[in-house]
Amino acid sequence: MKHYVSMEDFHAGEIQSVLSLAKEYEKHKIPMQNKEIFAANLFYEPSTRTKSSFEVAERRLGLSVIPFEVNHSSVQKGETLYDTVKTFEAIGCNLLVIRHPETDYYKDLIPSLNIPLINGGDGSGQHPSQCLLDLYTIQKEFGSFKGIKVLIAGDLKHSRVARSNARALSMLGAKVFFYSPAEWVDEELLQWGSFCQIDDILPIVDVAMMLRVQLERHTETGHIDDYHQQYGLTLERAKRMKSGSIIMHPAPVNRDVEIAGPLVESPQSRIFEQMRNGVFVRMAMIDSLLQKWGIGTNENTAKERTMVGW
Ligand code: NCD
Repeated sequence: MKHYVSMEDFHAGEIQSVLSLAKEYEKHKIPMQNKEIFAANLFYEPSTRTKSSFEVAERRLGLSVIPFEVNHSSVQKGETLYDTVKTFEAIGCNLLVIRHPETDYYKDLIPSLNIPLINGGDGSGQHPSQCLLDLYTIQKEFGSFKGIKVLIAGDLKHSRVARSNARALSMLGAKVFFYSPAEWVDEELLQWGSFCQIDDILPIVDVAMMLRVQLERHTETGHIDDYHQQYGLTLERAKRMKSGSIIMHPAPVNRDVEIAGPLVESPQSRIFEQMRNGVFVRMAMIDSLLQKWGIGTNENTAKERTMVGW
């Protein structure tokens, strides 16, 4: 795999090798190389966590981050994504992280791209780094994926997080359940799990993964009345979850819409832990992708690397 753009390209061994490397990063600081390596994060959609987390990961690996803000770039003069990407390649950028509202935007770029690309989220398509950090969080909690029951609930139709996670979780041996309002059911997802009623399934799941309502992707107008009571993780519903089960959400969270506000920081919630884990997972993704491209000095193996505690 030459780019990390879709979880559909990951086989189980590849997922595990990123998760193991992330663990190494969580334990120790592993400076990667001396040579200056440049990364650019081109975010054409708003982002707080993913963009900042990639930037922290890049800096912790010793990469130099080239600042880029769509609103202060030549995108405002009409420059296309393709020309922007080729510009970064030409000025010596070694790694691109791109988020773009168009699903599959990367398919047109890849044939002409000579540097590695990590997809930071494409429309309603894929979100590999969020998926891998979610997998890391689940693996850390339960030790493995085999037989772990995961409910993915909310705006399934518009969620790249659901699409990336459903397939990966099912491939790794987890049992996936879905729940959403009828208008946001995604038939394609049902190949990876079964559709259930939230009140039936919550008492038996190990993970309740709640999704944000993706208003920015809705073409239909209209509003679901009382979303929280009908479809959300209310305080009453959370009480019926089994002991040892956890609550996840990729964030940003609409408190009291998809999840009751007090649950966000409850002992059962892993929402901020997911963000923390995201840095290590992104470090692992960047490191392993740069190694595949022969960029950097990663002939130094883990053993030879200087270990400095954080
Ligand atoms: C997700 C995204 O952008 O797809 N957020 C994230 O990356 N942490 C989910 C969302 O925005 O709802």
